[in-house]
Amino acid sequence: MSNPIRIEKVNQTRIDHVNFDNLAFGNEFSDHMLICLYQNGKWGEVLIKPYGPISYLPAMSVLHYGQAVFEGMKAFRQVDGKVALFRGESHYERFNRSCKRVVIPEIPKDIFLGGLKKLIETDYEWVPKEKFKSLYIRPFVFATDEYLGVRASKTYAFVIITSPVGNYYKEGINPVKLTTMPDYVRAVKGGVGDAKVPGNYAASLLPAQKALEQGFTQVLWLDATSQSNIEEVGTSNMFFVVNGNLVTPKLSGSILQGITRDSVIKLAKHKGFSVEEKTITVQDVFNWHKSGSLTEVFATGTAAVISPVGSIHHNGETIVLNEKEMGPISKMLYAHLTDIHRGEQPDPFGWCEKV
Ligand SMILES: Cc1ncc(COP(=O)(O)O)c(C=O)c1O
Repeated sequence: MSNPIRIEKVNQTRIDHVNFDNLAFGNEFSDHMLICLYQNGKWGEVLIKPYGPISYLPAMSVLHYGQAVFEGMKAFRQVDGKVALFRGESHYERFNRSCKRVVIPEIPKDIFLGGLKKLIETDYEWVPKEKFKSLYIRPFVFATDEYLGVRASKTYAFVIITSPVGNYYKEGINPVKLTTMPDYVRAVKGGVGDAKVPGNYAASLLPAQKALEQGFTQVLWLDATSQSNIEEVGTSNMFFVVNGNLVTPKLSGSILQGITRDSVIKLAKHKGFSVEEKTITVQDVFNWHKSGSLTEVFATGTAAVISPVGSIHHNGETIVLNEKEMGPISKMLYAHLTDIHRGEQPDPFGWCEKV
């Protein structure tokens, strides 16, 4: 039986105060949020209520030991004026895989996806109307026991908030400057690098700050053991165009299994490219560049979809890619994927679900 969904609407919408022509990323929040609590071994009623403060006690265990999981997904306004949720099932599955890793009870589908669709329906007008803009969706779950011992919590809160976001590339597409950081690692095999848990992001802040201070945009993470295999970058997965085909690091157990990564692999294969998932060393990349076979590098993620990489720095050497411009294959994949989001191209994979 499905969990009941109760809706308490706002008295007055805040939408008129939002400048939809000038949206940044993640600083405007729609009128409503969803909340569902786990107690006595089960998830309770799903409540959609006005976005606002949630109150907890200082001993709440997530604040001390970080037992929490989140997702980042999007809904798009399509050309017919309807709203489509992009790859909801894949995000739902990844959310529960992450939960399993940190011993959080699985969220039933009717709460996660059923509740999310009701939330989007409730805030339908908050989904931006222009192409390249979207409704960013942030589901998250956290441990709520008032207890200081280190153990899995017995109570949790599952929350979804949504945020209208603009085109990631406001001033045109600026290729990112990456650097490796030999003194730091993001994740190790057997750790939590393949789960979307907040601690991974806290751990990345210091190396990211140092990279910025050195004039780079983001850190290119290498594997923790050999410090030679490419893993991922910031909050995105890496792709290399070598001799006109795509190669991407294989899922090693310490990389996040990106949903945009999967979309790009499927779309590129559909368009006739060969796509290889394999171990890629940073030396391979420098060699491909030297031989002239490396023509483009890009990163994939829900927020920016496809970000071109303009240069890579490693051990005192820098390679510059495609004259710091977005390459033709990256451009074509970006255009095709954003057309699918928008409903301007057929969706042969069934990724968009109308809400
Ligand atoms: C560490 C990390 N890698 C890769 C990605 C890209 O994943 P996706 O394409 O599912 O957004 C993200 C973003 O969620 C991330 O946080």
